[in-house]
Amino acid sequence: MRSGNLERMRDRVVTRWRGAGVQVRSTVAAVLVQALVVLAAGGLLLLLLRDDLRQSLEASNLATAQSVQALAGVDREDLQAAIDAAARRRAAVQLLDADGNVVASSADLRGAAPLLDPATVPTGTGHEKVRLPFDDDAYLVTSLSGQVDGRRSTVFVAQSLGTGEDTLHAAAAGLAVAGPLLLLAVGFATYVFVGRALRPVTRIRRTVEGISHRDLSERVPRPPGQDEVARLATTMNAMLDRLEGGEAVRRQFVSDASHELRSPVATLRAAADIALTQPERTDPADLARLVRGEAQRLDRLVSDLLLLARLDERGRAGTVAEPEREEVDLDDLVTDEHRRLRGTTGLDVALHREPARVLGDASALARVLRNLVDNAVRHAHSSVAVELRRNGSRAVLVVTNDGAPVPVADRERIFDRFVRLDESRARDAGGSGLGLAVVRDVVTAHGGSVRVEDPEGGAPGTSFRVELPLAPLPPD
Ligand SMILES: Nc1ncnc2c1ncn2[C@@H]1O[C@H](COP(=O)(O)OP(=O)(O)OP(=O)(O)O)[C@@H](O)[C@H]1O
Ligand SMILES: [Mg+2]
Repeated sequence: MRSGNLERMRDRVVTRWRGAGVQVRSTVAAVLVQALVVLAAGGLLLLLLRDDLRQSLEASNLATAQSVQALAGVDREDLQAAIDAAARRRAAVQLLDADGNVVASSADLRGAAPLLDPATVPTGTGHEKVRLPFDDDAYLVTSLSGQVDGRRSTVFVAQSLGTGEDTLHAAAAGLAVAGPLLLLAVGFATYVFVGRALRPVTRIRRTVEGISHRDLSERVPRPPGQDEVARLATTMNAMLDRLEGGEAVRRQFVSDASHELRSPVATLRAAADIALTQPERTDPADLARLVRGEAQRLDRLVSDLLLLARLDERGRAGTVAEPEREEVDLDDLVTDEHRRLRGTTGLDVALHREPARVLGDASALARVLRNLVDNAVRHAHSSVAVELRRNGSRAVLVVTNDGAPVPVADRERIFDRFVRLDESRARDAGGSGLGLAVVRDVVTAHGGSVRVEDPEGGAPGTSFRVELPLAPLPPD
């Protein structure tokens, strides 16, 4: 029961502590650490001070005792003068003979018994704390015992410890006042500085809270300097730039895609309207052909969009996911495509191929070849060539046609989504401008590259050159 209560209390403290915020937590931590430092340093200071006071008292007692002992048995008057001088320095003195009788003393000890029992005093020097009859303070008694002229003589010198203790108490009182003041100052300074340092973070948070996904144009305020908060603001703004850019691309993509989808749908609807309103002018075979053509176009468009969305999802510069990686013989794909071409076009089709195996997604790679060949056929005057070679660790696929070349300025742009060059937009109604975008995304996901170049040997036309990493050879 009790441990349950304790645990609940601990949980409550932990929750409060976590919820308290960085400013309060930093302040509490700074004050606690400072309190420990003050306690440790103050304690050490008092200990050292006490030792120091005691040592200087011992040294002064011993010096008096030595001067008294040096005069013992030499000159009675000099001896008493030395004892009186010591008494003026607030030291009480007793000189004892070998039998333990007091033979000389300072005025305040006149007639008093020996300060310490001479039988228990060590030979040489000793120090002891005692209470004396004439004072409330404790005294430090130093004994000096030795042989003078062959007879044992003992000197006691006593000084009050009261002055030293007063000094110690004053020092402790000083610490007791200064310590809390110091803690207060540390706490205040930490609270203010941390609060000031966090103010830009609060501003950044408020701004980010206010940014909706509809309007990503706002940027967080960047405090001056190069500290962590300034760098955080820079990073946030860079992230907002990327989000805004991505959002713009997505919107453009959606609007282009709807636009492209609308045109075959409009064609189908117009054909259906005519068939319904003017059945006598409609040839069912023509209508069926038109519907099939538009359906094919829609089918290609939708599968291109799906493929692009799938590639996007795998991550911007992502690679083909592990389960989709299989060994693909590019030469087989090229052979199939060549066969299809010969059956569907009257163009002159040249083929050169070497065996080349890559790791990847067979249907996506077949799509790359199909898109390049379709483009080549569409733009060829009379001939198309497909070439597959191995070059070091890479497979090189070149698809060439002898039509009008792609202008140098457009050779990058045509790989973007929905980009068609005007000339071909007018010439063929079929293309949606996604073919080369699919090519580039698939090739990139396979760790390869694609580019447009002039055909080898300076012949007129266009070549698309794809390079892909070859699959590693089996060990044998
Ligand atoms: N072999 C080529 N010769 C000349 N221009 C080409 C060739 N291949 C592509 N292009 C140009 O690049 C543009 C983009 O090609 P892409 O394949 O992406 O789109 P598309 O062929 O118009 O449409 P889709 O392939 O989606 O049916 C084409 O519109 C065309 O202008
Ligand atoms: Mg195309």
